[in-house]
Amino acid sequence: MKKIVIVDFGGQYTHMIARRVRECKVYSEIVHPERFVPDENTAGIIFSGSPKSVTDESMTSVKFDISKLNVPLLGICYGHQLIARLFGGKIESHQFREYGNVDILLFENANLFKGLEENQTVWMSHGDSVVQLPENFEVTASSTSTPVCAFQDISRKIFGVQFHPEVSHTKNGQKVIENFISLCGIGAEWAVENYIDTLLDSIRSESAGKNLLILISGGVDSLVALALCARAVGTERIVALHVDTGLMRYEESKAVMTFLHELGLANAQLIDASDKFLGKLKEVTEPEEKRKIIGAAFVETMHEFLASHSSELTKWMLVQGTIYPDTIESGGTEFAGAIKTHHNRVPEIEQMIAEGSVIEPLKEFYKDEVRLLGRQLGLPHELVDRRPFPGPGLAIRILATEGADKLSPEETMQAYMFSKQKEFESIILPIKSVGVQGDDRTYRHPLLVWQESGTRFQWSKIKSFASLAVNLQSTINRVIWSLYPVTETLSVRPLFIDKRSVELLQLVDNIVAEKTADIADIWQLPVVSLPIFTPDGKQCFVLRPIVSADAMTADVYEMDFALLEEIITEVQKIEGVGYIFYDVTTKPPATIEWE
Ligand code: XMP
Repeated sequence: MKKIVIVDFGGQYTHMIARRVRECKVYSEIVHPERFVPDENTAGIIFSGSPKSVTDESMTSVKFDISKLNVPLLGICYGHQLIARLFGGKIESHQFREYGNVDILLFENANLFKGLEENQTVWMSHGDSVVQLPENFEVTASSTSTPVCAFQDISRKIFGVQFHPEVSHTKNGQKVIENFISLCGIGAEWAVENYIDTLLDSIRSESAGKNLLILISGGVDSLVALALCARAVGTERIVALHVDTGLMRYEESKAVMTFLHELGLANAQLIDASDKFLGKLKEVTEPEEKRKIIGAAFVETMHEFLASHSSELTKWMLVQGTIYPDTIESGGTEFAGAIKTHHNRVPEIEQMIAEGSVIEPLKEFYKDEVRLLGRQLGLPHELVDRRPFPGPGLAIRILATEGADKLSPEETMQAYMFSKQKEFESIILPIKSVGVQGDDRTYRHPLLVWQESGTRFQWSKIKSFASLAVNLQSTINRVIWSLYPVTETLSVRPLFIDKRSVELLQLVDNIVAEKTADIADIWQLPVVSLPIFTPDGKQCFVLRPIVSADAMTADVYEMDFALLEEIITEVQKIEGVGYIFYDVTTKPPATIEWE
């Protein structure tokens, strides 16, 4: 199939480029700069952004000769500068980074901007600029601070844009991508629904002569992977195994087994491995360590199951519902920083992949495409549109700790100075959560904010305060807000993953899930258990309802305040539950899950 290839130099928005291309119904693939060579299916190439600079000695480039390329090439940000440099242009670093919305003027000659008005607002994030173009190249857009905002060499169909057409802040960015695709001469051929037969064929050939074992979490990815395998090879060769890790939601394992039986899988099996998982996680507090332990425990459980089920281990393959972003966010490319190691990308699994004993039929797709596939395969709406739940389950939603992460005097002072100037009361909490800032993982404090009794701001004000706070305070990556004033002194107490902490979180999570079940706009709603307690020993929790398309970026869901009050009242009826906070941070800078 003809495709547009995105060469990933580690930019934060590489996936957004791939998504934008697929929205034009053209297949896109993300590749590693040092391993990619164009082939007969490459209809066009896009170079991504990067946290690196092309002015550095250590800059990353591609391994093929771009002057001999016979398909169109588009460079974005770093990619734009890299093209200019490879053809002999000049790039300079500036002291100031141009960041955010910028007004630019498009030139009439620009083939990439066909159909667009000459004045456009685009989104930029760069410190380097092209200051001298290579021979035969012409400028196609300028701004007051960046004379070469875009260029082209139309005879060779080479284009560069300093701005990011792939992000939604560039209002007409999609049109730029569409124009590039039409310059590549590729038609709207890609639709995930039309790809099912190809997927079925490849499952059949990969699994020839083998039986399939698939671990079913209850989430949409593993269910769609299962439905595909069942369609490809029939249910007799498949064993669907649901492992109750003890870290599932309230009564989830029961519900999963019911789904599996309704799907007609006679070979569905439930293993209660809660003692194993909880035992291994006892006193583990580091988020990456949790994921690694859980990934390895799944593999161990699977091997034990196979050993008791069959004498011929080589006759089995493991099916995983890994989707496209999982591989990249785990540091799937050398250049993208590892934000989180997904539990299905731990070393034990990597080794099985290398040995050819894993099938991942969904590894090319984004979540919304997986849902389309699920619908096409006839899975019911309640399954296909379930809110995602991470494989490691509630383990990554219990912020286990041995005690407070002490704040330095500077951190305390920064928070104090900040809170003095603003309309919100705020304190930095001495705990940490994961975020994604720039192109890297951060592990920083959350800021807790609230208003004086009697004042209640609009969502827009709360959200803009949150983004200002994260931009101005380098020690935080997340803001949580309390609907009610925080009038008691809160403190950190040790918290671990055990039966008691899991059960309490299950009860809270279940009420929140029931009360919000009908809100289709909420894409996912993690509830996080904090090691923060009131003086009388009541534990605090955070709600994290988000709006998203594919988890790559997320916005805060603006819950009706009356509903939020109702949820808080209901949840606080559970013994031992204290304040309920609301996460008001977008992704980036915070990730969806706290760990
Ligand atoms: P973050 O927290 O990175 O999450 O913004 C993006 C999406 O991925 C889910 N997630 C996971 N899913 N194994 C999974 O199967 C994991 O280790 C894992 N970590 C995060 C998360 O719930 C969200 O939908």
